Amino acid sequence: MDTNNIKHEVIESLKTARTAGDIEEIRIREMGKNGRISGLLKSLGELPPEERKTAGKQYNILKTEVEKAIEEHAAAIRLEARNAEILRNKVDISLPVTAGAASRGRIHPLSEVGDELLAIFASMGFGVEQGPDIESEYYNFEALNIADSHPARDMHDTFYLPGNKGLLRTHTSPVQIRAMERLEPPFRFVAPGRTYRRDSDQTHTPMFHQVEGMAVGPDIHLGHLKWTLQHFLETFFETEVELRFRPSYFPFTEPSLEVDVRCERVEGEIRIGTGTDWLEVLGCGMVHPKVLGNCGINPDTFQGFAFGAGIDRLAMLKYGIPDLRSFFDGDVRWIQHYGFVPLHAPTLEGGLAP
Ligand code: DAH
Repeated sequence: MDTNNIKHEVIESLKTARTAGDIEEIRIREMGKNGRISGLLKSLGELPPEERKTAGKQYNILKTEVEKAIEEHAAAIRLEARNAEILRNKVDISLPVTAGAASRGRIHPLSEVGDELLAIFASMGFGVEQGPDIESEYYNFEALNIADSHPARDMHDTFYLPGNKGLLRTHTSPVQIRAMERLEPPFRFVAPGRTYRRDSDQTHTPMFHQVEGMAVGPDIHLGHLKWTLQHFLETFFETEVELRFRPSYFPFTEPSLEVDVRCERVEGEIRIGTGTDWLEVLGCGMVHPKVLGNCGINPDTFQGFAFGAGIDRLAMLKYGIPDLRSFFDGDVRWIQHYGFVPLHAPTLEGGLAP
């Protein structure tokens, strides 16, 4: 058969090929092991030498041209399929968003309050420090001057990991130690994070959140601590607050104080700033000289203040959330009610909460 006829035949059959499978069929028919063109090439050996040369040339040209035609057609079909696919998946981006979808997500009150705390302390020049949730006895207790016999070390409060692999930190105070070991005074920072205790009722959950604060320098005194806390609490509660500093005891501070804010309870709701009641909001004090010494800071040259507050508790008070456990239920209705609009980042200038 004339090679030109073969070529035209192939081109004609390609015109009716619609899928990659159709094309493959044609390719096998012509170029496969037992294909027509393959057969022609194989038959060259049987031709007399004088014909072999011209025929060989012709067959090879035919082979190249048919290959090219098949490949071109295959590419066109691939493109067509791709375009059809794009059209099928077309999205009309000019359509209005389904009602509610755009504003459905909410920021958890704990995240919001965490951001508020950081914004307030950043405005006072406090950096941010972090430490691990899984701590050693040394950082969680010993370096903080909490003796072996101290009740806080009791198995009932602390989650110990099996096989002496450490414990879940019971407070954020170990971050004080890690930061003091690393930093050269003067410095000041806050350290927010998760904390864990074996406790569960309306106001306690096994996992909760604290924020630690610390300032160390050559001349830090109790006056700095009082002013810092006053400024922090008034900015946080967005109202004037009256504080009461009560003597207390923490092994890592001397003196140690607990801080109450003046409040009143109206129909089960707590109002900060007025009234005749007092509500405890945090613990604080001047860093114990032994604790400074444990971290390589000379207590004759430097002193510091420290404080620790429960973030969950601050959030409950500020936003009137009655049950701590509800923070961790993952109830969508709850987050719709108590959550915050995602695009609002709390700042002192822009307002803390939207
Ligand atoms: N770590 C204490 C607790 O969990 C809170 C605390 C009290 C932290 C006094 C401090 C501090 O830094 O000075 O109860």
